[in-house]
Amino acid sequence: MPDKIIIFDTTLRDAEQTPGAALNGTEKFEIAKHLAQLNVDVIEAGFPRSSPSDFEAVQRISNEIEGPEICALSRVIDQDITDAWNAIKGSPKPRIHTFVGTSEIHIKGIMRSDQDTVLKKAIAAVQYARSLCQTVEFSPMDAARTEPQYLYEVVEATIEAGAMIINIPDTVGYAIPSEFGQLITGILKNVTNIDQATISVHCHNDLGLAVANSLEAVKNGARQIECTVNGLGERAGNTSMEEIVMAIKTRGGHFDQVYTEINTKEIVPISRLVSRLMGISVAPNKAIVGSNAFAHSSGIHQDGVIKQRDTFEIIDPEDVGLKESQIILSPRSGRNALRHRLDVLGYQIEGEQLDKIYDRFLVVAEKKKEVHDADLDAIMSDEVRSIPETYIFEYIQVLSGTRISATTTVGLQNQGKIIEKSTAGEGPVDTAYKAIDLITNLPLKLVDYNIKSVTEGKDAIGEVTIKVQNGAHLVTGYGASTDVIEASARAYVDVVNKVIYQNSR
Ligand code: KIV
Ligand code: ZN
Repeated sequence: MPDKIIIFDTTLRDAEQTPGAALNGTEKFEIAKHLAQLNVDVIEAGFPRSSPSDFEAVQRISNEIEGPEICALSRVIDQDITDAWNAIKGSPKPRIHTFVGTSEIHIKGIMRSDQDTVLKKAIAAVQYARSLCQTVEFSPMDAARTEPQYLYEVVEATIEAGAMIINIPDTVGYAIPSEFGQLITGILKNVTNIDQATISVHCHNDLGLAVANSLEAVKNGARQIECTVNGLGERAGNTSMEEIVMAIKTRGGHFDQVYTEINTKEIVPISRLVSRLMGISVAPNKAIVGSNAFAHSSGIHQDGVIKQRDTFEIIDPEDVGLKESQIILSPRSGRNALRHRLDVLGYQIEGEQLDKIYDRFLVVAEKKKEVHDADLDAIMSDEVRSIPETYIFEYIQVLSGTRISATTTVGLQNQGKIIEKSTAGEGPVDTAYKAIDLITNLPLKLVDYNIKSVTEGKDAIGEVTIKVQNGAHLVTGYGASTDVIEASARAYVDVVNKVIYQNSR
């Protein structure tokens, strides 16, 4: 039977220590509600002794959140433990987590103490915590740099004192996976009463190894992982909750001895909530929750994912709460990716028409680098005409400036032949329209000219809508391009074709 991995979330305690990430009580409560929906097993809600506001936040979460155990942190100091207990005692499942540094560098450098004194304090703290609360967790801080024999001694003594969960922190993110795995094996072999406790791990990410170290610890017998949403935490952060959970789920064959009960569809929603409330954006390439984690840009990858998702995706985006994979249309996208996106937008395009639209798409993609749905809609409105096209726009060249009058050359195709005309005059749009008049011999009276940008940015597609008077009728023309003069000319050619069609009927 596989064992459950207890997911101990410390977003509200360790991640809240991230510089600039402090939360108010309402924000902490909001995150706690979502952590309960995510179905984490334990919420470390805060460090009540650190401030009255943290005390209140932990107390509210304990009183109102149902489901997970609610844990509060304390040093091995009686007043800390009393405050932790007073803050969590309203929870149906309270847990006190008490810690003290056990490495030589912490004992000497911070506490100016010795191993014996620290051991006695740890035992006394666990005993006092157990006199208040059924579930007590103990952490020998900086365990990864603690002398192993002393670590075994502390762990054995604190289990004896009543700790049911022994958390092994790699406080400064110094361990490497094989070494950290051996540390867990060493504890299992050398601590005689270890069967009375659950081994937990708490890894920091200073070398980018927090997730790897936690997984290696699981392979070697750890059954609780302390982690945070988006991997936030002191310095380079903690083990990322979403990476751990999805690694165990995705590589179920490799981790066949364990499972988690996390509701993975809540992963992306909680990632976004934490990012927004803490004001720390998620890197686009962050595994699982980054904006590019399910985005495909290269033509080969796009083609593969459209044909069969798992060719380039190991996780179904729906499993983590996303609607679908994202195909980023760029100059590298092929016809298949364009046709797929147009299909999603409701345009069924094939054959020669697809070739033509693909050519226009490439022109826009080269300029803008990324093509959005609104750009495609603009191209399609411009390209897919409901009436026969007597004249087809081919090209435009403009010479214009503040000190010279504009000269514009336009080329239109008519019955397979290109006809080119140039005019000089007031401005590029006016001269473009006059050049088109020369080609079509159909001077039109412009009554309205409107221009707007479809998307944001200086390379956005511009949409031009114009109206001309044709007898008793007003005829509307539409053109779109990243070049507004070209969009204007296209709109005029559109209107010319409509007028010719109208007159012929
Ligand atoms: O990193 C650490 O060692 C901690 C302890 C309080 C568990 O956060
Ligand atoms: Zn920590």
